[in-house]
Amino acid sequence: MTRIIGIVSGKGGVGKSTVAVNLALALKKFKKSVTLVDCNLSTPHLSYYLGATDYIGTINDVLKDKLDIQSALYNYNGIRYLPASVKFEDLIGVELTKFKKHLSKLEKSTDFIILDASPGLGKEALFVMDASREILFVTTPFVPMIGDVIRCKEVLKQFDEKKMSILLNMVTYGTHELKKEVVEELTGLPVLGEIPHDNNVMQSLVMRYPLLEYKPNSLASISFMRVASLLTEKDYEIPMKVKWHKWFTTIKNILLPNEIRMSNKAEDVKRELLSNF
Ligand SMILES: Nc1ncnc2c1ncn2[C@@H]1O[C@H](COP(=O)(O)OP(=O)(O)OP(=O)(O)O)[C@@H](O)[C@H]1O
Ligand SMILES: [Mg+2]
Repeated sequence: MTRIIGIVSGKGGVGKSTVAVNLALALKKFKKSVTLVDCNLSTPHLSYYLGATDYIGTINDVLKDKLDIQSALYNYNGIRYLPASVKFEDLIGVELTKFKKHLSKLEKSTDFIILDASPGLGKEALFVMDASREILFVTTPFVPMIGDVIRCKEVLKQFDEKKMSILLNMVTYGTHELKKEVVEELTGLPVLGEIPHDNNVMQSLVMRYPLLEYKPNSLASISFMRVASLLTEKDYEIPMKVKWHKWFTTIKNILLPNEIRMSNKAEDVKRELLSNF
């Protein structure tokens, strides 16, 4: 069965599109066929992130029944890609409720479908949650964003049961950040991986190349490969430099005298979370 993974988050700007693009490319490196769909209709970014310009059709055309989903797919370096239109007027008349039906036409022809969602819990995010079989919450390791994950998890109860996991992004291993284990305890969800904060990510965006192509040996690229290996259950040896980076940065941050120290006791964080509700 095709694995349909929704890349979602409560807060905007935490790295969903970055994850969607690089995870799709990493899965392809593990010999999987992948379809990537820009489901952020009001503020689409994927074409920019991929540097893709000469595409055939858009998800807007598909949702308006102007174009069949299979004919709208564009081949981007071995992955199939469905962009969203950047023209504001193309939002008029799109029928989000038809998405699941259109997507079912791709079922037999692809191993993975990666859906890049809009942030939050509005209609645009909900149609992705509904269409997905698995949800990957992208979040940064801070209390309010983890609160958002818990809220999203509540909202997901209205749909069929889905496999859910978390990807921590822009991690600096600072003492002000929540640790993976605490995030797991607070949300009741497994953390699939940690993507370090890596300046190469922004540079790749400016260069209009996905990070995995621009800097395949960067810390973040290697971390995306690790996540893809877990999803495909394939072996992947994490290079020592990534392990060293984590250990070295963690120890350096502990030793720095002026660092803000976040309590990583789940009950303290829970109290802080509750004070916001
Ligand atoms: N691991 C990382 N290290 C450094 N910068 C990152 C990392 N991940 C993402 N970024 C940067 O953060 C910014 C936001 O990323 P991105 O657009 O992927 O977030 P998003 O969740 O898709 O945003 P939106 O909610 O608006 O769709 C971008 O400038 C991106 O380059
Ligand atoms: Mg995005």
